[in-house]
Amino acid sequence: MSGPATSPHANPASATPTATESPSASQIEVPLLDLKAQYATIREEIEPILREIAESQYFIMGPRVAAFEEEIAAYNRSRFAVGCANGSDAILLALQALGIGPGDQVVCPTYTFFATAGSIHRLGAKPVFVDIDPTTCNICPESLERVFACPNFNRIKAIVPVHLFGQACDLDRVLAIAAEKGVPVVEDAAQALGTEDRDGIRVGNRGAIGTFSFFPSKNLGAFGDAGMTVTNDEELAKRMARLRNHGMEPKYYHDEVGLNSRLDALQAAVLSVKLRHLDAWSEGRQRNAAFYDAFFSEAGAAASDVSLDEGGLPLRHPKPAVDGARHIYNQYVVRVPAAHRDDVRKALAERRIGSEIYYPLCLHMQECFKHLGYEPGCLPHAERAALETIALPIYPDLSDAQRQHVAESLVEIVKAI
Ligand SMILES: Cc1ncc(COP(=O)(O)O)c(C=O)c1O
Repeated sequence: MSGPATSPHANPASATPTATESPSASQIEVPLLDLKAQYATIREEIEPILREIAESQYFIMGPRVAAFEEEIAAYNRSRFAVGCANGSDAILLALQALGIGPGDQVVCPTYTFFATAGSIHRLGAKPVFVDIDPTTCNICPESLERVFACPNFNRIKAIVPVHLFGQACDLDRVLAIAAEKGVPVVEDAAQALGTEDRDGIRVGNRGAIGTFSFFPSKNLGAFGDAGMTVTNDEELAKRMARLRNHGMEPKYYHDEVGLNSRLDALQAAVLSVKLRHLDAWSEGRQRNAAFYDAFFSEAGAAASDVSLDEGGLPLRHPKPAVDGARHIYNQYVVRVPAAHRDDVRKALAERRIGSEIYYPLCLHMQECFKHLGYEPGCLPHAERAALETIALPIYPDLSDAQRQHVAESLVEIVKAI
């Protein structure tokens, strides 16, 4: 999931048949996400740790958090990792550590989960929204160049690109623009732990700071909220470590004001166990994505680099990641014609298939950012994506029968449009 708006527990796992039961299509239920199925596979590893933490009564920070930070740094091939309370705070801490504050402008895509811009706003800075590349839904470098050329945006102090849905954005272009303009980059990798660009570099390492969310529906999900920043810069790591605990160092002394964004020992312990499974889970998602891609293209759907205006089957599947890159498919997002999207979702729901819209309203169109003065139509690729996209179930525990049911149903539904 790409925003906490929807409960990942909407459909109980107990209602979900397994592949071995060979249910008929009319009996199969496919929730958008089934965390109970995942928990069943790791219950024996997790439960003793939960008991141990209850016995210890040691709940906040401490050795389990330090160990998990080291594990994430190693997994992400970063020098430092600093845990915090959630992925929204991770962005805020990163920007604050870079000195962003009131009056500054910070660029981010308009088509992302709210937290990307919300964290900029919480620091008193102003988000400057840019459009997306319609093929990937990631930040559009040309749109980024345009805002730097615009006289209204002469106080830009940072760029926050997002690796949306688990796919690396085009950081080469973003970093080149950032270097030319002398501003740092914070990579919002909330949905992308383990994602690699075409050179095999894990996201979060090329900008000044990378940020992650462990919201339960992420590929690595906590038993609640949790987040992390990574960096290769020791001073930034130290500053974020202070800021997450009220800016305190040493104890009860504060040179600057931070926030309470400490990470719980319980979350860190659960995440440490789950991290051991992360690659297998992400590979399961990749296999499901490859299955859907092949099924949809065989049925006549084009990939997302072809606009729906160009005709053919009214369905576009994600364009597979470029050679060398690693897409971890936190979400698998297709496009259907805007006028039919609600009906398509309704028909999927009638076949007991969960779906979601990430995201139905771009950030520049949100009521809370109205005062920034954006007009409808100004960021057209993002606005169109907001009307056409549907996320399908992609979680690794999907059975063959479930994913077959999703793919067959969607093709049947769009053929009837
Ligand atoms: C792109 C993006 N940024 C930031 C966040 C915020 O993370 P959290 O929900 O852990 O605060 C999310 C979470 O959904 C996200 O998808």
